[in-house]
Parts: sequence; structure tokens; C-alpha cells
Amino acid sequence: MKEKIAVLMGGRSLEREVSLRSGRRVTEALAEAGYRVVPLDVTPDLVATLRSEKPDAVYVALHGKDGEDGTIQELLEFLGIRYTGPGVVASALAWDKALSKRLFGRDGIPTPPWVAFTAASFKHMGAATALDLVSDAVGGFPLVVKPASQGSALGLTKVTSEDGLPSALLDALSYGDTVLVERWIDGTEIAVSVIDGDGGPEVLPPVEMVPRSGVFDFSAMYTPGETDYYVPARLPEETLASVRSLARRVHELLGCRHVSRVDMVVDEDGAPFVLECNTSPGMTETSLLPMAAQAAGLGFQDLVERLVRMALDAVE
Ligand SMILES: Nc1ncnc2c1ncn2[C@@H]1O[C@H](COP(=O)(O)OP(=O)(O)O)[C@@H](O)[C@H]1O
Ligand SMILES: [Mg+2]
Repeated sequence: MKEKIAVLMGGRSLEREVSLRSGRRVTEALAEAGYRVVPLDVTPDLVATLRSEKPDAVYVALHGKDGEDGTIQELLEFLGIRYTGPGVVASALAWDKALSKRLFGRDGIPTPPWVAFTAASFKHMGAATALDLVSDAVGGFPLVVKPASQGSALGLTKVTSEDGLPSALLDALSYGDTVLVERWIDGTEIAVSVIDGDGGPEVLPPVEMVPRSGVFDFSAMYTPGETDYYVPARLPEETLASVRSLARRVHELLGCRHVSRVDMVVDEDGAPFVLECNTSPGMTETSLLPMAAQAAGLGFQDLVERLVRMALDAVE
């Protein structure tokens, strides 16, 4: 028997159901590969269970708040348990899209023009009186309003005129404290996954997503048949090379380790824009990282085992 691995899944985030699907699949793959697997839905017993089970490593199959924002990572560091995926700082930076975008801007990584507001700026500082300035600040309509920290396109609205702005902002703010307004980029949607290897971060083939409804929302992400996927993305060789290099730069800039997935849109002129970096990419049947890995010759079980080996070999 190989090492004992606890797979953390579920929890209380809005992406609980997605995480359970990722976690169950990871659990099966690890069991098939011969590991002793302890699947754990995250509840208030988590710490006690981890202390009694004493796993050799944890596979973090949590998505969203508390699982992808540095919270669980900080707790695992405290408990001295090795785990898969980026550490505390990278998780926290990537989870906050507004902060990530500031870092992208500083490093010359293209990202759609944006502005960010906190709930306090509306409640206590009168930001609502300046909504007329918003569209110019991001380069005009259409634009997208989304919570700065959320996943699976939750709380996201495409806004085509001034009238749509207040309700979109309110909606996004019901998901978290900071809201992002960003220029909408029409073009090809891609996800570029990065996985660490012996020679440094290795970029997997970019995956192109074409939702049949036209919008890559929650349902398009997780319902088989609702989205068509192309691997590698149907883009010119030089564009593929440039988005691969961008993904690697984002992975390194945010200080990610083991794995990350960078979401981008390539506009009609072939210019790429980075939307965000995911530090706990989905592992469901319709997820993009496993698809990219498969295209690179790495099956699901090999992918999971590679991530677990990285966690087990991590230097304390
Ligand atoms: N600026 C944008 N231009 C075009 N499409 C966008 C933009 N921002 C978000 N989207 C769409 O919404 C989806 C989710 O947005 P994203 O920023 O990746 O957040 P998350 O996946 O964390 O919810 C994207 O995959 C894309 O389809
Ligand atoms: Mg995304």
C-alpha cells in the first residue's frame, strides 16, 4: 500500500457541489492507484479527524471560499500537513481578482481594463454618485460586473448600458465585499493549465470553450454537452505560443506551486487578455485541467498522482 492521503472536499462554499464531484473523482483515482484514501467533507470535525487520521498528505479538492483563498492552506501549514496546490500567499492573491489584476498590470500581463469598488465605498463614501464615470474608465459598454472573489461565474453579469449597472453591482456585492467592473472582451475563451515539472512549470495545451448558449456560465461549465471543447484551442501557432507563455508568467508571478489554471479571452485581433488564475482547478468530468492533461498524454489518474507526489515530496 502507498501513502495515506486525505481528500478534502465539499465544505460550505457556493461551489460545494462542484467540489464534491472533484473530490469523489480524485478519491477514486487515488484508490485505484493504490493509496490509502480518506475522503473528508469539510465540517467542524476536520481538525480532529486530520489529527487522528494523520495522513501523509492532503489533496485539496475544495473550490471557492475557504478552500481556494488561503484559509485551508494556512490551517494545514499550522497542522504541519503537506498538501497539493499553491500555498497561502499565492492562493490569497489569485482568489482576489482585483489584487491579481493589479499585479498583472505591474508586470505587463494584459488584462481587461477594470475598476474595483468595495461595499464600504458605496455605503460610506458615496461611490454610487460616480457610476456615470464607470463605463469610460473601462473603455465603454459592454462590460462585465463580477465579485472580485468568487468562482464558477457566480454573481457575474454582462452589462450593455448604464441602466444595468446598479443592479449588477448590487448582485455582485451580495457575493462578497469587493466588486470588479471590467471591459467585456469578445473573442475566443481559453483556459491554460500549468503544472510543475522537473524542469520548472510545464504549460499544458490551451483548451478552448465554446458554450452552446453563448455564455460560459455555471450550467455551461458543469453540464456535459452544453459546451464544446477544443484541445488545443483553434488559434494560430504564434497565439498558442504567446498564451502559453502568459500562463507560465502568471503562475510564477503569483507564486503558484504544483498547479494552476489561467483563464483568458483572445480577442478578434488575436490579442490575449488574462481574466484570472485558479489555484484549485476543477477535477470534474467536464473540467478543463484534466482535459488539458489528457491532451498532453497525462490521464486523470496520472495527473492526480503527480500532484500528490509533489505534495509528498514538498520540503517542509
Ligand atoms: N472581461 C470579460 N470578457 C469576456 N468574458 C468574460 C469577462 N469576464 C468574465 N467573462 C466570462 O465569464 C466567465 C467567468 O469569469 P472569470 O473571470 O473566469 O471568473 P470565475 O471563473 O472565477 O467565475 C469567463 O469564463 C468568461 O466566459
Ligand atoms: Mg474562470
